[in-house]
Amino acid sequence: MAAAPQPVYWLGNDTLRVSAALFAENRRKLCNGLKAKDGVVPKSFVVLQGGEQSQRYCTDTDLLFRQESFFHWAFGVTEPDCYGAIDVDSGKSILFVPKLPESYATWMGEIYPKEHFKEKYAVDEVQYTCDIADVLTSKTPAVLLTLRGVNTDSGSTCREASFEGISRFQVNNTLLHPVIVECRLTKTDMELEVLRYTNRISSEAHKMIMKNVKPGLKEYEMESLFQHYCYTKGGMRHTSYICICGTGNNSSVLHYGHAGFPNDKTIVDGDMCLFDMGGEYYCYSSDITCSFPANGKFTPDQRAIYNAVLKSSRTVMAAIKPGVKWTEMHRLADRVHLEELVKIGILTGNLEDMMRVHMGSVFMPHGLGHLLGIDVHDVGGYPEGVERIDEPGLRSLRMGRLVEERMVLTVEPGIYFINHLLNEALANPAQSCFINNQVLARFRGFGGVRIEDDIAVTANGVELLTCVPRTVEEIEAYMSDSAKPFSPVVNSEKF
Ligand code: GLY
Ligand code: MN
Ligand code: MN
Repeated sequence: MAAAPQPVYWLGNDTLRVSAALFAENRRKLCNGLKAKDGVVPKSFVVLQGGEQSQRYCTDTDLLFRQESFFHWAFGVTEPDCYGAIDVDSGKSILFVPKLPESYATWMGEIYPKEHFKEKYAVDEVQYTCDIADVLTSKTPAVLLTLRGVNTDSGSTCREASFEGISRFQVNNTLLHPVIVECRLTKTDMELEVLRYTNRISSEAHKMIMKNVKPGLKEYEMESLFQHYCYTKGGMRHTSYICICGTGNNSSVLHYGHAGFPNDKTIVDGDMCLFDMGGEYYCYSSDITCSFPANGKFTPDQRAIYNAVLKSSRTVMAAIKPGVKWTEMHRLADRVHLEELVKIGILTGNLEDMMRVHMGSVFMPHGLGHLLGIDVHDVGGYPEGVERIDEPGLRSLRMGRLVEERMVLTVEPGIYFINHLLNEALANPAQSCFINNQVLARFRGFGGVRIEDDIAVTANGVELLTCVPRTVEEIEAYMSDSAKPFSPVVNSEKF
């Protein structure tokens, strides 16, 4: 018998169709992981709580809802205030949706019956959240597995499911987290398809900006163009993070664009632009940085710094394959940067000596890259037993483990001229001895260059998901060629 057709998430036009089978596969992966885990007994039920609708401070103005990431990974449900349960033995799923008041139909729209959600999400059963304790009791579970664990990027603990009546059950909140995190670490074929799509749309949006940027415009106009392209062409209502549109010296501010520095500078002739933006589709992320001169033509110094970063990006990408240490990839990027900064004349001295005093972190204080998935800084970088290396630069690396096939990672080396870090290095005799301050002075106020691509790790290398002009020649040609206002993405780089 042919399998029943699966419902799809689709926003029409040319947006991607994502089958509900993606989440059924994730749930199967989770059940298999749990069955293999010591301590998980028969008749265990996973219970996850979805995100809640919240309001702006004490007002009644709704904030735009975005699903909680673990819940999304397991159920693909877009509505707030739901729960989900999975019978680990059989894999059967129960979605709990809120029983909505009649007034909802007046203010918010039609109230759908449970059957609607059963079809929409292809789950085995749908019940109301108010009945959750009774429904679960009727299944006679031995234990409920709830999710509690620390996000190793934020240090925050995820919110464990709770509901009225949960005290009637045996609950274990430690077994689930490491298993579900490990499941999210590597991506299925269907997840890779979505990440290819988020990268394609976001790459096109970056290219559109390269065509439209010019001195005199505001940084936020670039943010707005990016968001408009991603939403109108890609159905992306959210970006994966706050858009970073730093120009001139702002391009050295790693997470520029927040409320304190809201992309509000006027772009001027001679500025470097560093635009770090990624669209999110159905809660799957992208994270791409393009750096280029605002006027479309690199100065010799801009070209030199850009090429140094491009060299480290491509050297690292050529080295990535299953089994390599991510920390070593970070060190490799540092090494290439230092070699190139010597050629430019900013540094002088022996490479190994410079590595020993962590000169790389003066110019690249952040990590080489991170896992990417439903969260832009995706989970799983430091499982139990993998310790962060407490050294400048490496302590900011969001993943400390070996590279594995099906991981999706960012590769985002950068060189920045950050005054307080330069001053600190100049005040430290162990580092200042390598710096040619006269040459360095020329680069004060330069800003920075970051080249950020998203990759999927294959059996023997990487698949480059991002596709934007990358070499100096490609960028200059692309920005000057007004006859070709917008050309489709073709990835020709092979690793
Ligand atoms: N956009 C944030 C990051 O690159 O990690
Ligand atoms: Mn990133
Ligand atoms: Mn980024």
